[in-house]
Amino acid sequence: MNRFTDQTVIVTGGATGIGLATAKLFAAEGANVVIASRGEENGARALLELKAIGGNPIFIRTDISDEESVQNLINRAIEHTGRIDVMVNNAAMFYESDFLLETTERWKAVFDTIVNGAYWCSKYAADVMVKREIGGAIVNVSSINGYRALNRSSHYNAAKGALDQLTRCTALELSPHGIRVNGVAPGFIDTELSVVGGVNELETEWFKQYYVEQRRIPQARAGTVNEVASVIAFLASEASTYIQGAIIPVDGGLSITF
Ligand SMILES: NC(=O)c1ccc[n+]([C@@H]2O[C@H](COP(=O)([O-])OP(=O)(O)OC[C@H]3O[C@@H](n4cnc5c(N)ncnc54)[C@H](O)[C@@H]3O)[C@@H](O)[C@H]2O)c1
Repeated sequence: MNRFTDQTVIVTGGATGIGLATAKLFAAEGANVVIASRGEENGARALLELKAIGGNPIFIRTDISDEESVQNLINRAIEHTGRIDVMVNNAAMFYESDFLLETTERWKAVFDTIVNGAYWCSKYAADVMVKREIGGAIVNVSSINGYRALNRSSHYNAAKGALDQLTRCTALELSPHGIRVNGVAPGFIDTELSVVGGVNELETEWFKQYYVEQRRIPQARAGTVNEVASVIAFLASEASTYIQGAIIPVDGGLSITF
């Protein structure tokens, strides 16, 4: 399939994990991919991988928690290909912390990344889509934590909940301009984000017993980055033209159990 030939697709946090898998999938289907990520080394490595696949990829060092950095991203993406068709808001951070011990500084940093970062990326990318009258798609990578409470991560859960509302509200406001906004809500996916405090939570006895053996995840396994990337691409593609403001769980059924 070549669903994204000559389209420009920006993926934040596109140098690792779900973002990298998504960037590779779009590149394989003809897109010019823009990787927007903070780390120079990971960005350069990801760019090499994308160049081997095809399209006209570029890495733009970006801190999405900084509005000026996001404006620079959008300006440089436009200089590169002259258009933006798809914005994937994927970058985020996760760490464990007790609610009572969390600091205001760290709480704000999480919101600046997950909520404000997606806000700035959506706003400036949509501005280009509207002015050039080309429409487009925005896909927000949320989490099942956006609508379920997980212990020791109020900062992340609350930010993902806010991101889900941003998805619905921008889906409503941008629809008259031909822009579709949707989200994915991954469950447990095997990436660097699963390593908490130096321990990969997917390899712990707790995960194996509770989520796998007791089938709290009905499919009894963690998901792969490609299983999330394929849903992100679907939401950006012509196969989903009547989906607007939806947040699709990609969690092996975890969120249907209790
Ligand atoms: N892995 C999981 O189990 C899981 C579950 C639910 C949701 N998610 C979501 O999937 C998305 C991707 O996470 P992942 O699992 O691939 O982890 P990851 O750590 O590989 O990816 C996150 C990326 O975001 C980048 N990033 C963080 N802050 C940034 C900033 N301020 N500016 C630019 N880039 C920044 C990081 O450098 C990294 O490349 C995240 O939104 C995460 O919340 C992951």
